[in-house]
Amino acid sequence: MANSKKSMHGAWSSRFAFILAATGSAVGLGNIWKFPYIAGENGGGAFVIVYLLCVAAIGIPIMMAEIMLGRRGGQCPINTIKALAKEAGANENWKYLGWMGTLAGFLILSYYSVIAGWSLSYVVKAFTGSFSGESAAQINTLFTELKASQGEQIFWHTFFIVATMSVVARGVEGGIEKAVRFLMPSLFVLLFLLVAYAMTTGYYSEGLAFLFKPDFSELTANSILTAMGHAFFTLSLGMGAIMVYGAYLPKDISIAKTVFWIAGADTVVALLSGMAIFPIVFSNGLEAGAGEGLIFQTLPIAFGNMTGGWLFGVLFFVLLVFAALSSAISLIEPAVTWVIEKFTVTRNQACLAMGGAVWLMGLGTVFSFNSWADVTFFGLTFFGFLDYLTANLMLPIGGFLIAIFAGRVMHDRHTKEELNLKTEKHFEIWTYLVSYVAPAAVFIVFLSVLGIFG
Ligand code: PFF
Repeated sequence: MANSKKSMHGAWSSRFAFILAATGSAVGLGNIWKFPYIAGENGGGAFVIVYLLCVAAIGIPIMMAEIMLGRRGGQCPINTIKALAKEAGANENWKYLGWMGTLAGFLILSYYSVIAGWSLSYVVKAFTGSFSGESAAQINTLFTELKASQGEQIFWHTFFIVATMSVVARGVEGGIEKAVRFLMPSLFVLLFLLVAYAMTTGYYSEGLAFLFKPDFSELTANSILTAMGHAFFTLSLGMGAIMVYGAYLPKDISIAKTVFWIAGADTVVALLSGMAIFPIVFSNGLEAGAGEGLIFQTLPIAFGNMTGGWLFGVLFFVLLVFAALSSAISLIEPAVTWVIEKFTVTRNQACLAMGGAVWLMGLGTVFSFNSWADVTFFGLTFFGFLDYLTANLMLPIGGFLIAIFAGRVMHDRHTKEELNLKTEKHFEIWTYLVSYVAPAAVFIVFLSVLGIFG
């Protein structure tokens, strides 16, 4: 294979379309739902700094690597890695890297869809005025009731999986590009509005201090792992989502520049969410470490108290659902393309099979908030376990191996040809980051969790 292969699954219409789709994948529940609650659970500022460092030093070089691998391979991540390992004369067991990523995407989507379902349910709640004039305690009850209801959660989870699979079934150029084009700018506007509201709470500076003032004594090895895992999660790295999107990238488009846009937009959205949420948390005497319900317990208070809040509430949760949708499709695209390539079935058939399987798996997450609340796996609920396994272990391990594969297994002349960076110096920096810095950082974080440093 002297050159990158054109993918049988389609191609982006332009560089901008790729940036939109990849940003759509990156910006999602991870930024608006997950980032604030894990920052809250891990003490704020110091955690945020570790996360930002990981995005810059590990995330950006690995994102370039994934796009590069995807474009050169042109197939689903499993077959891409297989083909590229062959091209490099490396061991064919590298294909298991593709397998692990594809499985991670499947597992993440199973719980991601349940949380997206919560957001759907909140669209209706906002529309019917459930938040207006309610106290923090009443808002909290709404959320507790939702978690207790299997029927409601399963309903919205089903809705979201059907929506996701319908977009995936239409292929890359059809649904994905169009949705994201409108979604991203609107999301920015609404987040700015929420930050403006947060400024009026009287607790804006407390919120900012919590988010940006580091107290390193709060930082444990596990919170460093969570910060690193989140850098992978939020940038959609380590599992082949960005790789499969890279497969649809025309050959003449430069990879490096796109990556900065994607990572930049993703980081800004996460920070804006934090800046909107923590002032509301503090002004209502809520717990920053309240856990996975944080945005569902805070933002409705804001919507309930501002004029026209029901409309902002509807808009916000609708946008959150769209942000989740544009991420969800990239979570399952690696598995769907694998099924198509392996069994030579149509995209529709592959979507039906994968959608059904992921839906079933998602029921475990629904139950983990009610009837299985006391069932634990390594001390975590089913949802907690899936989240830890995927975000904290599978994505960083996948990212580590992707970095080694791109930096050390592939031939330099191939990576150089594919990346096509401006100068030799740029290429050397990237090679150094991806071959040494990123893998070493992941490795050290793992060692510290294992307690090797005391
Ligand atoms: N990046 C998405 C988010 O922050 O919500 C989640 C995600 C999508 C993770 C795709 C991993 C992935 F491959």
